[in-house]
Amino acid sequence: MSGYVLEMKGITKVFPGVKSLDDVTLSVRPGSVHALMGENGAGKSTLMKCLFGLYQPDRGTIVLDGHPVVLKEPKNALDLGVSMIHQELHPIPDRSVMENVWLGRFPLKKLGPLSWVSDADMYEATAKLFRDLDMDIDPRVRIGALSVSKIQLIEIAKAVSYQSKVIIMDEPTSSLTGPEAERLFAIIKDLKKRGVAVIYISHKMEEILRISDEVTILRDGRKVGTWPAAELTIDKMITSMVGRTLDQRFPPKVNAPADVFFEVQNLSSPPAGRLQDVSFAVKKGEILGIGGLVGSQRTELLETIFGLRPKATGQYLCRGREIFIHSPQDAIAHGLALLTEERRVTGIFPVWSVLENTVIAHQRSYRGPLGLIREARRIEDTERSIKDLRIKTPSRAAAIKNLSGGNQQKVLLARWLLTKPELLLLDEPTRGIDVGAKAEIYGMIMELAKQGKSVIVISSEMAELIGLSDRILVMCEGRVAGIIPGHEATEEKILRLATQFKEPG
Ligand SMILES: Nc1ncnc2c1ncn2[C@@H]1O[C@H](COP(=O)(O)OP(=O)(O)OP(=O)(O)O)[C@@H](O)[C@H]1O
Ligand SMILES: [Mg+2]
Repeated sequence: MSGYVLEMKGITKVFPGVKSLDDVTLSVRPGSVHALMGENGAGKSTLMKCLFGLYQPDRGTIVLDGHPVVLKEPKNALDLGVSMIHQELHPIPDRSVMENVWLGRFPLKKLGPLSWVSDADMYEATAKLFRDLDMDIDPRVRIGALSVSKIQLIEIAKAVSYQSKVIIMDEPTSSLTGPEAERLFAIIKDLKKRGVAVIYISHKMEEILRISDEVTILRDGRKVGTWPAAELTIDKMITSMVGRTLDQRFPPKVNAPADVFFEVQNLSSPPAGRLQDVSFAVKKGEILGIGGLVGSQRTELLETIFGLRPKATGQYLCRGREIFIHSPQDAIAHGLALLTEERRVTGIFPVWSVLENTVIAHQRSYRGPLGLIREARRIEDTERSIKDLRIKTPSRAAAIKNLSGGNQQKVLLARWLLTKPELLLLDEPTRGIDVGAKAEIYGMIMELAKQGKSVIVISSEMAELIGLSDRILVMCEGRVAGIIPGHEATEEKILRLATQFKEPG
């Protein structure tokens, strides 16, 4: 026996215009966490899709428990003991949580010629699954009504429910913060004890060092190497991933915020308990960070300002004059732009090209005389965005769904930057983005501020909040718990404010 539960050997996968994987080898031990790292577009998800039967490799073999296997579809993988938590979640919004968990595989009850799924049994099974994993979710609610982080937890539970030998987790914590991520780490520890191997993809390096036993790094579709996690440092990982050392992650703050640009006064949202009496102002040239725990209503705040959600009370002032925002169109007309948290649901048009996805928010400016579309300009803007943000795509005509997760996020950012907003609202802008590209995005945000634009940015990454913001507004339970000047901000101060109105315990 090799001592490995899984061996992928010489895996090569070519798509039109890209060699996504080139002779990649991966060996995974039972009862261990094997991390897979690399920049956006390095080939991590592609390798895992080959293992899950979603893609067929052009070359290479997959050996499970010592036996070579051919995986034509996910069902083969599941039958052989491999399950996967996907980077992009695809719940069926109108079905209940439990239906989403068991879809198409719940044991049928039979009576003579009749067979059916027992709702009560399904409820029991789901409740037990959640109980075992210490998750507090009602199996009967419509999954579409839940937050992204809850849906991610449900995906985790679902992957565990297959009782697999190998569980692939492709950026499982991208929408989780604090306690929820801790929950996942506890689950992983437990899986390890039961001999399950976890393949873990993440851009969060502290997390990788903490929970993994071995780390494999990919670069441009090739394997750089595999190391015991204990022998790695963050610097070593960055150098191996990027192929160069990165200079400082956060450019120095040089902007000098000037007059107030936008002001929110006494904003509350309809059902009591959501936003409550929120007031703040953001200056020209200022980066205002928003911190807080999941559920502190940060996303709701930005979506309300942008006209996506109704407000009950409150007003907005722009350059000192009251303005009215009833829809995203109003917001855009006043110079606002919003990069949403969950790109798949609210941002990406999957089968459209990179070009269409980039220019969509800026259409009006491409309309020439006689209503003709200025194609040359659309192409120019797209090509510049691809270059500036280093978007990895075979061409501007490629369908965006074929880009890696992080590169889709970059396209969305490019979309809003093109509209030249006066106030840019960013909800977790670097989620799923690799270290190198993160530094580039920070640079662009700071450049915007330098040009006198205002930026409001939600981030669950403390280092990012502190490194980027001129001031940090901390929310707790829908209220403003406090505002801290950037140079005084520490993780501890932010956390203390973030839990200010919480009941103890
Ligand atoms: N179905 C597809 N058609 C065409 N190209 C694809 C397809 N799937 C992946 N690719 C390309 O393969 C390369 C690797 O993508 P992959 O999704 O594996 O990257 P990744 O390492 O998971 O990146 P990220 O960290 O951004 O998720 C990218 O250049 C991507 O555009
Ligand atoms: Mg990926």
